[in-house]
Amino acid sequence: AGRPLIFLAATDSTNRVALEMAEQGGGPAVVVAESQSGGRGRLQRQWHSPPEAGIYASFLYWPRLEPQDLAKLTLAAGLALARALEKNTGLHPGLKWPNDLLLAGKKCGGILCECRLVAGTGKPAVVIGIGLNVNTPSRDIPPELQHKATSLRLASGRTWDRGVLLAALGQELDIVVATMEQGGFAEILASWRKRDALLGHELDWLTPNGQVVRGISLGPDQHGILQIRDHQGCTHEVISGDITANLG
Ligand code: BTN
Repeated sequence: AGRPLIFLAATDSTNRVALEMAEQGGGPAVVVAESQSGGRGRLQRQWHSPPEAGIYASFLYWPRLEPQDLAKLTLAAGLALARALEKNTGLHPGLKWPNDLLLAGKKCGGILCECRLVAGTGKPAVVIGIGLNVNTPSRDIPPELQHKATSLRLASGRTWDRGVLLAALGQELDIVVATMEQGGFAEILASWRKRDALLGHELDWLTPNGQVVRGISLGPDQHGILQIRDHQGCTHEVISGDITANLG
């Protein structure tokens, strides 16, 4: 799409930069960095962002959506990322609620959506931040993440053009954002569920207050909330927290 692209050789976090642009009333844009020193992940984690290896991009939108639609938008963004990759690489990424992109059961990408209500605009500004390990070699994956992180290169045995993937990603994001604005989350959810790597699998949910709930994933519901059935037959609704599953 014809949005401005702001390219930064290095920054702390492209999400931070894009949110600042939103606060100053900036229009739709994408902020891309070659490397980040403080890439932000979910749950206060860091997104490891070495140069020449990944895509670190934050897309700023002003969608006609309500703040409560943001959880759904995170799922929609994951679907867009999966579609962009599939069309351009032939790989078949899976999705792990709420925002992980998996190849062969390991994480290669993640999404962090953040929003701001900017006075006088009437719409929330939404930043869809995407981190994708593209040409990352094994040595650039920290030892403690080796068992659960991968890159397109490690999963496919070849390198990929990041510019092509970024352009495809922008197109697919525009499509899902438009679908969301037209009230089309049900359609997005149906496609999402086909790629759900956890559906029917046993998993552990670490709740925000530190308990562990073990159960089977029933997938996200029509609000984008993950449903887990525990072994007593009770269903739990997961809005936040960490999910671990043994997909091996
Ligand atoms: C996650 O899996 O927890 C989400 C990771 C999101 C990382 C991306 S990299 C580009 C953008 N800028 C950030 O600071 N974070 C997102």
